[in-house]
Amino acid sequence: MKYNPINSALFVKNRKNFRAQMKPKSIAIFNSNDIYPISADSTMPFEQHRDIFYLSGVDQEESILMLFPDCPNEDLREVLFVRETNAHIAVWEGEKLTKEAATKTSGIQTVFWLQDLEKTLFEMSTYADTFYINTNEHYRASVETETREDRFTKWLLAKYPAHSVAKSNPILQDLRAVKDPIELALMQHACNITEKGFRRILNFVKPGVWEYEIEAELLHEFVRNRSKGFAYTPIIASGNNANVLHYVENNQQCKNGDLILFDIAAEYANYKSDLSRTIPVSGKFSKRQKEVYNAVNSVKNEATKLLVPGTIWKDYHVEVGKIMTSELLKLGLLDKADVQNEDPKWPAYKRYFMHGTSHHIGLDTHDYGLLHKPMTANMVFTVEPGIYIPEEGFGIRLEDDVVVQEQGEPFNLMQNIPIEADEIEDLMN
Ligand code: GLY
Ligand code: MN
Ligand code: MN
Repeated sequence: MKYNPINSALFVKNRKNFRAQMKPKSIAIFNSNDIYPISADSTMPFEQHRDIFYLSGVDQEESILMLFPDCPNEDLREVLFVRETNAHIAVWEGEKLTKEAATKTSGIQTVFWLQDLEKTLFEMSTYADTFYINTNEHYRASVETETREDRFTKWLLAKYPAHSVAKSNPILQDLRAVKDPIELALMQHACNITEKGFRRILNFVKPGVWEYEIEAELLHEFVRNRSKGFAYTPIIASGNNANVLHYVENNQQCKNGDLILFDIAAEYANYKSDLSRTIPVSGKFSKRQKEVYNAVNSVKNEATKLLVPGTIWKDYHVEVGKIMTSELLKLGLLDKADVQNEDPKWPAYKRYFMHGTSHHIGLDTHDYGLLHKPMTANMVFTVEPGIYIPEEGFGIRLEDDVVVQEQGEPFNLMQNIPIEADEIEDLMN
């Protein structure tokens, strides 16, 4: 791992909060992700499942966590299984977690090698009535792959057909949405690394530069600051590429007079940041570009003010739609008739701003969070309005990550990342 060790108090607290929502006589089980194969003997880089990470800090493949708060055998109330390490593995694969290191990382006292799982689980199961299994109920999830968790669940249910089953996911969606101060500090750190990357490219972009050259600069800056790299596939979209919302080719040359839309950010310790900025290739916005830019920035500022305790995500989007509509009228992109005749299910503003304004962010870029529940303090959301005008050859999106506060406006984790059009021009020149 490139990141510095995380205080295990975070994981101890997360498990305590999870346990508090479990039924009597139940065991919750969490698996690591697989290491996904590519071909021959090559694999994708390992990405830990965010739930076992959230509950243990263990960032290693093949690890399994079990929570059994009322187990009569006190030693089995929290159990971590990790792959056995030895001198041979250390030579070929490098350092893996010893039992002591696993305890230090997670705060869990009982650590077994993976080969002890079946017999330990059998003992635990004889005291329990219910298994909490971990399915993926994220509102954006669309997964075709059978995960390690899915395979384990199949095996578990076949092996223990008399136990009842409960869902971990709603508990985790609820808990992970509200961030601990340790998590907020990690997310601030990710945002600070993103800031370094963005400032670096403000000095680098010139007419003729290629989008992938900018991507390389960002990756360099992220990795030298202990990030694994991009928090998500980066979008570096010059000119009309910005109007393809998920443009990730990043293979075009940036032309004088065009804008470049960046949706790029660093991860740190598995925590994500999510930034969008739009800058002029030449270092100077045209009058029209600046007018639209300032409209997007104004929607962003107004939308941010609505991210307060009690706000419901869906209602928030309706309000932001109204703010955006008024800006589009001022820009002459919509007229009154467009708005009067609009279909309430697809309002007129959607022609220029067709995606959502905010999502939870944390261990996942589109993080857990139960969207029907009111916002509460220490939830972290992005704010990301955009205006996309293919007819004019540019698209603009601005995006920051903000923390809902008990009182007052949200705290902007990206407050130091330049955003005002004049400041961007000054820094580029
Ligand atoms: N970068 C992904 C998003 O903004 O949602
Ligand atoms: Mn983004
Ligand atoms: Mn986003």
